[in-house]
Amino acid sequence: MTTQNQGLFIAFEGGDGAGKSTQASLLAAALESRGHTVLRTREPGGTPIGEKLRSLVLDHGHGHIDARTEALIFAASRAAHATQVIRPALEDGTVVLSDRYIDSSVAYQGAGRNLGADAVRTLNNWATDELHPDLTVLLDVEPAIGRQRRTAGEAVEDRMESEADEFHCRIREAFLALAQSAPETYLVLPAHQAVEELSAQILARVTTLLDAVPPLELAP
Ligand code: TYD
Repeated sequence: MTTQNQGLFIAFEGGDGAGKSTQASLLAAALESRGHTVLRTREPGGTPIGEKLRSLVLDHGHGHIDARTEALIFAASRAAHATQVIRPALEDGTVVLSDRYIDSSVAYQGAGRNLGADAVRTLNNWATDELHPDLTVLLDVEPAIGRQRRTAGEAVEDRMESEADEFHCRIREAFLALAQSAPETYLVLPAHQAVEELSAQILARVTTLLDAVPPLELAP
């Protein structure tokens, strides 16, 4: 939680093809037009080392990557991201919007790769020194629809996306279970709604949170 600083940390989560990037960019534009400083970032990635780790873990052609190695690469990328980017931005009073965060590892590596939610959560709590979002926006998408949306643009599927629908079903269930375990810090929205309907609901919830954040104290 970021209660001791004035920024706000929002993570966007959901299956592949849920529309997270579209919603993050609409929210960023809406908040900026209201005078907030916003940082949009993503995982894996967000730092130079994180972008290298991203291509290591997502691109085809690095040979087989076992599940533990995969989980550690995502966690390493996240450690750099939390320490070098997210925490400093929050301390400056920035609203940070991250496309994916710890829940993605709990869902994809914990459930998808069967490493177990608890082990993956513990690893990532350590990696981030317990930096958690104030709000997680979960865009819930049926795996078959997510696949249709991704392949409509004929983009080549990465290592995760090309997994079977059954893998993506486990991930979806894991995301929903995470949201149910702490409903006050989640906004769960069915991703098939119109883009504008989704963005209005997200903005309403975030505005409520921002109204509750105390103003940044200026030095005398
Ligand atoms: P990306 O291109 O960002 O996909 P999307 O647009 O759907 O977010 O690729 C990220 C992929 O990496 C996605 O398939 C989810 C996966 N992933 C994990 O398996 N574990 C993680 O911790 C993170 C952050 C992502």
